[in-house]
Amino acid sequence: MSQYHATYEAWKTDPESFWEEAAREISWSKPADKVYEAVDGLDRWFVGAECNTCYNCLDRHVEDGRADQLAVIYDSPITGKKATFTYQELLHEVATLAAVLKAQGVEKGDRVICYMPMIPEATFAMLACARIGAVHSVVFGGFAPKELATRIDDAKPKLIVTASCGIEPGRIVEYKPLLDEAIDISAHKPEGCILLQRPEAEASMIDGRDKDWAELVSAAKAAGETAECVPVAATDPLYILYTSGTTGVPKGVVRDNGGHMVALKWTMWNMYGVSPGDIWWTASDVGWVVGHSYIVYAPLLHGCTTIVFEGKPVGTPDAGTFWRVISEHGVNALFTAPTAFRAIKKEDPKGEMIGNYDMSSFKTLFLAGERADPDTLQWAEEKLQVPVIDHWWQTETGWTIAGNPVGLGVLPVKHGSSTVPMPGYHMRILDDEGNEVKRGDIGAICVKLPLPPGCLPTLWQDDERFQESYMSAFPGHYETSDAGYMDEDGYIYIMARTDDIINVAGHRLSTGGMEEVLASHPDVAECAVLGIADTLKGQIPAGFIVLNSGVDRAADEIERECVGLVRQKIGPVAAFKTAVTVARLPKTRSGKILRGTMRKIADGEDWSMPATIDDPAILDEITDAMKDRGLVG
Ligand code: COA
Ligand code: AMP
Repeated sequence: MSQYHATYEAWKTDPESFWEEAAREISWSKPADKVYEAVDGLDRWFVGAECNTCYNCLDRHVEDGRADQLAVIYDSPITGKKATFTYQELLHEVATLAAVLKAQGVEKGDRVICYMPMIPEATFAMLACARIGAVHSVVFGGFAPKELATRIDDAKPKLIVTASCGIEPGRIVEYKPLLDEAIDISAHKPEGCILLQRPEAEASMIDGRDKDWAELVSAAKAAGETAECVPVAATDPLYILYTSGTTGVPKGVVRDNGGHMVALKWTMWNMYGVSPGDIWWTASDVGWVVGHSYIVYAPLLHGCTTIVFEGKPVGTPDAGTFWRVISEHGVNALFTAPTAFRAIKKEDPKGEMIGNYDMSSFKTLFLAGERADPDTLQWAEEKLQVPVIDHWWQTETGWTIAGNPVGLGVLPVKHGSSTVPMPGYHMRILDDEGNEVKRGDIGAICVKLPLPPGCLPTLWQDDERFQESYMSAFPGHYETSDAGYMDEDGYIYIMARTDDIINVAGHRLSTGGMEEVLASHPDVAECAVLGIADTLKGQIPAGFIVLNSGVDRAADEIERECVGLVRQKIGPVAAFKTAVTVARLPKTRSGKILRGTMRKIADGEDWSMPATIDDPAILDEITDAMKDRGLVG
């Protein structure tokens, strides 16, 4: 029988004792004075405690007998390279790099931006920052210079660590020109950059500013320089991770040290059913929260071996790559986004390539990051013959809000539901007035405060935006910005975002941000960007533009420029490939663009004429324009 209900009740009865108990799994240099305290309206966990996240990820395991166990396996089908690092070796790499960072003037509390591809050095950099109490901010390689510049200006890093390139199928993404442009346009200028040269593309260096990673590290190794762990307050920031907000300015989600460790460590057995020593693989990117929590921190806190995979589910070289990695490294559990499985299913619908590999080590598949459609879930269950666990969380929470807890005992699976709330999350589904709706009715999914350990305590240097973005709509609650319902058994169903966020291939993007870019085109008078359903990526953005009167250039030329502009300003990750010129946009009488109705038309859903529509004829024009471009699905 599952221990879930008893565990959830134990938390509800006495939350502080619950987390105090969970905190015993972490090594603290000073214990907490208080398990929980609200300071100026912000939740603080393990107040007064001191700790070091890198110590708990590495040194502790080396001291406890895991020195020779593999900590990281790097498998890169895109470059054909592989490498392994034991806990002892990883500790040496990280302590050396930490000494290098210190020698470059990085001190406790300083920010370091990591603009890195999926190579082991990305994990070294994150852990080296944690070791010396510096705050890292990892920026995903698919973002354009402007996005990087926005993050540089907000985080004000002392240093940037980067590599010469990332590698995409058929294309080398040279990071250095992107980085140089970002630093050019940002108001804040970092004191220096440390760059790892990859053989696929050597970058030119700027004298005085750029330092060669390999030279610095080999000199530090030759001199035997390593840095010790610096104790930090449990409430000090470990990292800032920027995520899409409702405007073009991303939100700097802050993660603390103590609560983060306690929560992540708790999940590894209770949620994921994984034991120390197990081989764990998260096929994501360190640039996303899933990568922070489950490529780097949680598996290492738990003493697992984690796989750093530089490749794609298909095309590197084929749809059997995931199965090859699982069998070659003896992977026990895989965590990825449903998109990856949709891509594999499309290439190998019968799952024939699975049969080419020994999958006997493989016990569980976890999916998150976007809605897991029942077809994909069923396909994975049938072909892999292991439990397939959908779970729901966000950059802001850093770990599962609702899931099916494997360690506590799996509950019956209901396709379409991410199952039940984890301890720490008191879920309430609210109507517009803040009243709880009936079971089965859709509402705004909220968490009654306080948020549990590990969730964001605030936004980077912006308590006001934090309160305003998450706490103002439903006082006393954190608003997830997801809409959905809870059924009679307490299962949660995530149906849609309530804001302008869309989810493209598991990547979180703001349509508002894309609209800002389109609106900056000199010929565009107004625009609307929608996320429309896509069988592979879940959603893809489509932009509708109205041109300024008097513009007599060809519409298709302007559309191409718009597509190029989004790629240039936000990055290829936006996957913005469609701009459609229309004469007018449908609006309410008060001038609000009817994006919801437009999306329903594109997705082929039932829709009714909004009572407040200004001119119903415009919807016919939009429908025709969508049909012309094959957008109505
Ligand atoms: N650096 C630079 N560019 C990147 C990038 C990176 N790290 N990651 C993606 N891109 C580019 C891609 O090359 C693509 O460029 P293109 O327009 O020139 O083709 C564009 O961004 C869109 O990428 P994506 O949406 O990922 O589409 P894709 O066709 O390259 O791949 C999948 C589709 C399904 C294979 C891919 O999305 C995938 O592996 N998803 C797994 C899910 C995942 O990792 N989610 C993260 C959160 S858990
Ligand atoms: P991110 O912050 O990038 O992790 O994106 C978080 C958002 O992705 C959530 O608010 C949801 O909208 C969506 N999401 C994540 N996991 C799931 C899931 N299991 N089911 C449905 N939506 C999900």
